[in-house]
Amino acid sequence: MHISVIGCGYLGAVHAACMAAIGHDVVGVDVDVAKVEALSQGKAPFFEPGLPELLQEQVASGRLSFTNDMAAIKGATVHFVGVGTPQKRGEYAADLTYVDAAVASLIHHLAPGDVVVGKSTVPVGTASRLAALVTEAQPEATLVWNPEFLREGHAVQDTLHPDRLVYGLPSGPAGQAAGAVLDEVYAPLIAEGIPKVVADYATAELVKVAANSFLATKISFINAMAELCEATGADVTLLADAIGHDERIGRKFLNAGVGFGGGCLPKDIRAFMARAGELGVDQALSFLREVDSINMRRRVRMVDLAREVCGGSISGRRVAVLGAAFKPESDDIRDSPALNVATQMHLQGATVVVTDPEAISNARRAWPDLRFADTPEAAAKDADVVVLLTEWRQYRDLDPNAFGEIVAHKRMVDGRNVLDPEAWRAAGWTYRALGRH
Ligand code: UGA
Repeated sequence: MHISVIGCGYLGAVHAACMAAIGHDVVGVDVDVAKVEALSQGKAPFFEPGLPELLQEQVASGRLSFTNDMAAIKGATVHFVGVGTPQKRGEYAADLTYVDAAVASLIHHLAPGDVVVGKSTVPVGTASRLAALVTEAQPEATLVWNPEFLREGHAVQDTLHPDRLVYGLPSGPAGQAAGAVLDEVYAPLIAEGIPKVVADYATAELVKVAANSFLATKISFINAMAELCEATGADVTLLADAIGHDERIGRKFLNAGVGFGGGCLPKDIRAFMARAGELGVDQALSFLREVDSINMRRRVRMVDLAREVCGGSISGRRVAVLGAAFKPESDDIRDSPALNVATQMHLQGATVVVTDPEAISNARRAWPDLRFADTPEAAAKDADVVVLLTEWRQYRDLDPNAFGEIVAHKRMVDGRNVLDPEAWRAAGWTYRALGRH
């Protein structure tokens, strides 16, 4: 099939490459000239495991191309919209500027029978508003809403083998026909037995924000338990293991620590609250305000802990920060808890040296006042305290004995609960973590 993908960021670039990988002819469109240039050469403009190989293969095959010219979508019959919906400045609501601009521009090129597929995370009600614009421009084109659930760091795998496909379709024959077109697009996934949920627009839009809200709630739940553990001398990691054995609860997404960040969970729960307010059901989501504040409190607590192990002040101390990305296997620093903690400590007078395997250049651009080092060893040289904030494999595997030779004081604050306290203490370190003694 001939497919276009509008927006070539973390979502769109991966989606375009994966659609080519399952046999479609794909053109990716983005307004960013540098991004299109890189992608056209088969280079990923951001770090995502497996993506560079896939891009190279698919661009070389001739099935995948990229352009800045929206007119290139002519000839494609399915048009995915995967542009960003960031938080508005100074407000909780989502900024729909990019979605609106993409749709306003693409509708001029639609032909009868075309299907526009919304993938961006949007406030409920957006799809029906956009559907009216699509059919006004081309009465025989149909909009469907098909939310995306990929995780950064696992994006290729999640796109090719998602947990489920969700179709938000308009009622009637046009909706059915558009659903059949999506079945054809995703034929290899459907053949694999991936469950498909067919719904109306509003349900499909809500599935996405409900899923992210649930995940955020799960993380904040365990982080609230961490606060209880800190007050009682209990251990949140053992607590999570024990409750996680109950299949109804499950152990996944119960890792206590410095909390969630990134371009999705924080802004999605806020946009969801804002939308609920507009719909007059803000009480239904007032718990998300608490989820958000538990999450933000962990960042402050992390700084307190670093201060505590340094004897009450970090002013003038040398702090090594392991991790800048919002999670491992990503170079994304949007709303990164690691950088939030690092900058707080910098503002409190510490000399903060940050390292990360992939995110240093993004971090340096956003926070030029921080210092950066290429390796954990370089960051930790003469450090008074080491703070682990993103659980990259190479930090989890650090040898406490060898690492202890580099620092000025053996003080480790584990913001992700991933190190073995006994091993670090046995090597002479003062080990502290959130929710653990
Ligand atoms: C999230 C969802 O997991 C995806 O399903 C969704 O498609 C995506 O948002 C999106 O809306 O596009 P992502 O932001 O890539 O994916 O990352 P997650 O793996 O969900 O992690 C989010 C944050 O939670 C990270 O900062 C991570 O460190 C933190 N986290 C995760 C915890 O603090 N504890 C955990 O147990 C798990």
